[in-house]
Amino acid sequence: MAVKDAVRERGQFSSRFGFITAATGSAVGLGNIWGFPTQTASHGGGAFVLVYLVLAFLLAYPALMAELIIGRHTRSNMVSALPQLTTSPMLKIVGRATGLFGVVTASLILSFYAIVASWLMVQVPAALADIGGQGPAENWLNQPSLLRDSLFCGLFSLLTAGIVARGVTAGIERWSTRLMPALVLLILGLVGTVLTLPGAMEGLRLYLIPNFNLLTGPSLLTSAMGQAFFSLSLGVGTMLVYGSYVSKADNLPLTGAYVALIDTGIAFLAGLLIIPAMFVAQQRGIEIYNSDNTLIAGPDLILQTLPSLFNSLGFAGAFIGLIFFLLLTIAALTSSISMLEVPVTFVLEKFKISRYHATWLVASIIFSLSLLILNNFDQLFTGVIRLTTTYSQPLLGVMLCVFAGWVLHRNKLLSEISKGFAGAKTSLFWKIWPSYIRFICPLLIILMFVQNTRS
Ligand code: PHE
Repeated sequence: MAVKDAVRERGQFSSRFGFITAATGSAVGLGNIWGFPTQTASHGGGAFVLVYLVLAFLLAYPALMAELIIGRHTRSNMVSALPQLTTSPMLKIVGRATGLFGVVTASLILSFYAIVASWLMVQVPAALADIGGQGPAENWLNQPSLLRDSLFCGLFSLLTAGIVARGVTAGIERWSTRLMPALVLLILGLVGTVLTLPGAMEGLRLYLIPNFNLLTGPSLLTSAMGQAFFSLSLGVGTMLVYGSYVSKADNLPLTGAYVALIDTGIAFLAGLLIIPAMFVAQQRGIEIYNSDNTLIAGPDLILQTLPSLFNSLGFAGAFIGLIFFLLLTIAALTSSISMLEVPVTFVLEKFKISRYHATWLVASIIFSLSLLILNNFDQLFTGVIRLTTTYSQPLLGVMLCVFAGWVLHRNKLLSEISKGFAGAKTSLFWKIWPSYIRFICPLLIILMFVQNTRS
């Protein structure tokens, strides 16, 4: 295909199923399988689960709709989408700046996400080496080093770019429809296995029975909001760009609801896996509490407590470990392709180069950023995470709600929603969502932002 044609040809998901798997592939990631269970563990279990479920639908779903609608309406990348919603020169500048901010944020998120993904991916060959009795190889793979992390981060970035370079249908959609069903099967198999082990029921109780005394803590509320936002890939233009590939014949509010439901469902399943697994580990003599009596969370939980559990289960444990880290790698990969798609569509549409060249150019820049972070880990790693997820994502989220609710004209909004949804005008969605996205969403997000930055 000539370069010009490639640029004009924006690509479109071939079916609603294709879009749903790609969008849930983006949403379901380390945020669900790592973030949600560990946040639940550090906020006392069931109370966090309850707040999260409420917020996912009260806050994240409406914000997701804002991105999908803007994306499908403008059929553009993140930078040129927002200026198209207005005729005011001033607002066009604000829109472009917001878009650029989104592109930079998505790229920075990918630069640290690829590092975390590489820590998980390396556990797959490590488990294979364990099963195959290759002690020295297993030791090398298990021992964190700059060389190991750079190599695996490079490998993960290559996989991500390899998929994105193939385009919307032949790359993103094809791989999401292959990987997502595999992910669901793997997680169901693991939940089924762990729940039969001694100790699991104690974890299940902690996970499912809310302790309402904990509901008052402000950090619980804001953590749940941040988690919902990150989990649905909001604020950085991922869902906007994926929305720009949705057919005009699809019912957007319904499709968006499926994405939110599946994302939340898989986070819930991951909790059913990890919290009971911690208590199985405790039964086997592995420490699961920190010295201050809180449950171990974060990297220590995923990279130490759970591997100790797998080790203690002998040969079967090595297989469980293999499947667990394969699951995490798949989840990370389908999310990272959606992050890379944000800067790639911008570069290919702005500079009129082919998708192939745009992908490898952007992926190389982002990989260099990952290397920079790896080489200056203590100074950069947590800083970049905090900058992007605590500050940039909520701010961008507010801007996207404002553009969907205040800048995009109400009639255009209705006509966009009505495509593929004939009864839109009299629907409950249309009665509630427009004012919701104007007032409640921005207010809630600002509240979260202020709380998060104060803590
Ligand atoms: N939603 C992904 C996760 O849960 C992360 C993500 C954030 C993906 C922003 C794309 C954009 O891991």
